Amino acid sequence: MKKSVRKAVIAGNWKMNNTPAQTTELINAMKPLVAQADCDVVLCVPFIDIPAAVEAAKGSNIKIGAENVHFKASGAYTGEVSAEMLKAAGVEYVVIGHSERRTYFGETDQTVNLRSLAALNAGLKAIICVGETLEQRELGYTETLLKFQTKMALTNVKEEQLDNVIIAYEPVWAIGTGVTATADQADEGNGFVRAAIAEAYGAEAAEKVTVQYGGSMNDGNADELLSKVNVDGGLIGGASLKADKFAAIVKAASK
Ligand code: 13P
Repeated sequence: MKKSVRKAVIAGNWKMNNTPAQTTELINAMKPLVAQADCDVVLCVPFIDIPAAVEAAKGSNIKIGAENVHFKASGAYTGEVSAEMLKAAGVEYVVIGHSERRTYFGETDQTVNLRSLAALNAGLKAIICVGETLEQRELGYTETLLKFQTKMALTNVKEEQLDNVIIAYEPVWAIGTGVTATADQADEGNGFVRAAIAEAYGAEAAEKVTVQYGGSMNDGNADELLSKVNVDGGLIGGASLKADKFAAIVKAASK
């Protein structure tokens, strides 16, 4: 099986940007630009922007995601939001284990796994992020690390739940730096992720999983990155804050 059997998914990760009013404005600007997309189009937004995003995206092909989810269903967890709450708010996707959360907020492979299970068990689609630092790459650990992070994230995930799993390979050194992985590096990294899924679930199951690339993907490099057999879409930071740039990436994925 080749790439054509997998669904391309272009997802924006807004990170800590946009007020609810700005959310409405940006999604209204994006809607007509991405209406012809031949791929899934997702915007992952801050919790506070979710109601505005869901409302603005209504009737369009844009799906809304969150940027994190807690692993407990409810209880004394100040500041956290559960999968059930996200579902009730109209959220369909959630980013889990982004490197910024791993670096700044103590996210570990274990909490990434717990969050992934909570999201999947609630019927959300999980966009699980993995990626190596520059130091790890230079030491030659990229394959080992990507496979380890992928397998840890998917511990106890059932094979039938893989339909709702997207893995985003985001080399830490390429995030927000303007330094993009070359198309070959992205393809290789995504290939390591797919190989890890194959080792855990078999090759046939692994061929069906969408593996995105993320890290300074933009309207200028999306075509080349997305042409690679293992690059099934993108997780887009900075360029998802501009309607025209995001739409250009969606167009590149729709070819
Ligand atoms: P940039 O596209 O801004 O490099 O961010 C990538 C990213 O972290 C998406 O999750």
